[in-house]
Amino acid sequence: MRHPAFFLGLCLMVLTACESPEPPYSAVPPGFPQVLHPQDNAPTPERVALGERLFFDPILSFDSTLSCGSCHKPEFAFADTARISPGIHGRLGFRNSPSLINTAYQPDFMLDGGVPTLEMQVLAPIDADFEFDFNTAELVERLQAHPEYPALMQEAYGRDDAFALTRALAAFQRTLIEGGNRHETGQLTPAEQRGEALFEAHCGSCHSGFNYTNYQFLSVGLYTVYAPDSGRAGITGKPGDSGKFRVPSLRNVALTPPYMHDGSLRTLEEVVAFFNSGGVGHRNQDERVKPLGLSAEDEADLVAFLKAL
Ligand code: HEC
Ligand code: HEC
Repeated sequence: MRHPAFFLGLCLMVLTACESPEPPYSAVPPGFPQVLHPQDNAPTPERVALGERLFFDPILSFDSTLSCGSCHKPEFAFADTARISPGIHGRLGFRNSPSLINTAYQPDFMLDGGVPTLEMQVLAPIDADFEFDFNTAELVERLQAHPEYPALMQEAYGRDDAFALTRALAAFQRTLIEGGNRHETGQLTPAEQRGEALFEAHCGSCHSGFNYTNYQFLSVGLYTVYAPDSGRAGITGKPGDSGKFRVPSLRNVALTPPYMHDGSLRTLEEVVAFFNSGGVGHRNQDERVKPLGLSAEDEADLVAFLKAL
């Protein structure tokens, strides 16, 4: 039998070998690009821990009933299984809560791409009357009167204002990196492999790359008229962008029903049946969404593949 010190030595060697000269939180799964951090928000343990605490603290909402985590639940890949997650006083918005896994890689934020950075995104739920119905200035006053937050914000950013609040929440969200599903580790069953081939043929040009999205805004023809939510057109004002939403990542998709920007499709079976039908023929509908002629078995294989992601 080997001496316990041998194992300790081995562990230390492995730990040192795994340590990179980069700051912590920069390790990414194989095949993933490095996460880019803004110059004024390099991640440190203090910043990420503060962001995590704020993310799950209902202090952020006007009546202290709701946190970011109320709608972005860790057990559902930081999404929600409600069609529309209720904000304070049970008020409803109009979009389904998206997963925040790998949000660090997004070129823009919100399903219509209306917000350019994760730091700025924080202001949206604070202000929205169907989310926290609060305002940033008053929230900062509330945090400054808290017994612990001022010191934690000072430690993390050298200040205890809206800068620290928005930076910390963004720094935490950039740590929500995930890879290594059964598709990526090559452990698919035969049915899932058949689904993979169908996926490559019919879905992979939009749901492409390491995060199963090309991050473009496209219309899949869910409706002939997209009202009241016209998607990307609400940001650009261009009729040609009506009905376009960001191609969503499909990672963890089995955990995040219901589906589509408005949560109108309840199951993955319904989503696959929708794509097989070819959409309703919206005027901006992408030409890759067309009747696919898949059999019931094909549909089942495709669903099995999606569940492996
Ligand atoms: C009441 C539910 C609710 C609460 C509370 C909430 N969110 Fe969200 N979140 C949503 C919905 C719905 C969207 C999609 C909004 C859109 O596209 O207009 C979203 C979008 C986002 C996005 C953009 C994701 C993407 O795919 O572009 C981020 C990041 C995010 N939320 C982070 C947060 C943070 C941080 C908080 C707390 C400060 C928070 N959310 C609070 C429901 C919520
Ligand atoms: C032309 C690009 C395109 C093609 C092809 C495509 N999708 Fe999508 N997919 C999208 C867009 C855009 C959305 C979001 C639509 C919305 O929210 O209204 C979406 C939504 C989804 C969703 C819902 C995800 C969620 O979190 O709500 C699933 C699942 C999905 N697609 C699977 C597939 C499958 C399976 C195929 C192939 C049969 C496919 N897609 C083909 C662009 C595409």
